[in-house]
Amino acid sequence: MGNYPTGVTVVTAVTGDGEPVGLTVNSFTSVSMDPMLISWSIDKNVSTHDVFAKGDRFAVHVLAHDQGDTCMLFATKGTDRFSQITWKTSAENNPVIEGYSGLLECRVYKTVDAGDHTMLIGEVVHADNNETEPLLYHQRTFGQIPESFYNK
Ligand SMILES: Cc1cc2nc3c(=O)[nH]c(=O)nc-3n(C[C@H](O)[C@H](O)[C@H](O)COP(=O)(O)O)c2cc1C
Repeated sequence: MGNYPTGVTVVTAVTGDGEPVGLTVNSFTSVSMDPMLISWSIDKNVSTHDVFAKGDRFAVHVLAHDQGDTCMLFATKGTDRFSQITWKTSAENNPVIEGYSGLLECRVYKTVDAGDHTMLIGEVVHADNNETEPLLYHQRTFGQIPESFYNK
């Protein structure tokens, strides 16, 4: 897996008590165009596993190139993650973090028990694109798409 570069997302949801939760995720991938489905997997040891595995919706933020700090914040245990960033509750009732490159708000389509993870397949019900370059992640290092990448 270390040979496979990815982007980075933060996936958020709301608990039954109305508290925002979220974690950094790079297992995100597209699944289907019609219906529009995406998937990601959550470790069963993550403190908020059951919120996501038993919930009916979540929001995937594709992080922008300057959101390395947000990536680390949402991967660090024992911090009050939402007090350190700017966010609001969307019409879909998901916590939405400012500054993303792309946003995919999903309803849970299916959950799959998969070893020590639970895979969540979501149907996209709302999408937004800020057209900012994404954050890249490879071998525990952050990166940005080089200018030369687009020069044909
Ligand atoms: C780049 C990166 C990608 C990650 N991807 C995933 C992932 O796909 N699934 C997952 O369960 N945890 C992933 N993690 C780890 C979780 O973010 C971390 O275990 C979680 O935030 C812990 O939450 P907790 O303190 O509420 O238990 C990733 C961490 C990093 C730094």
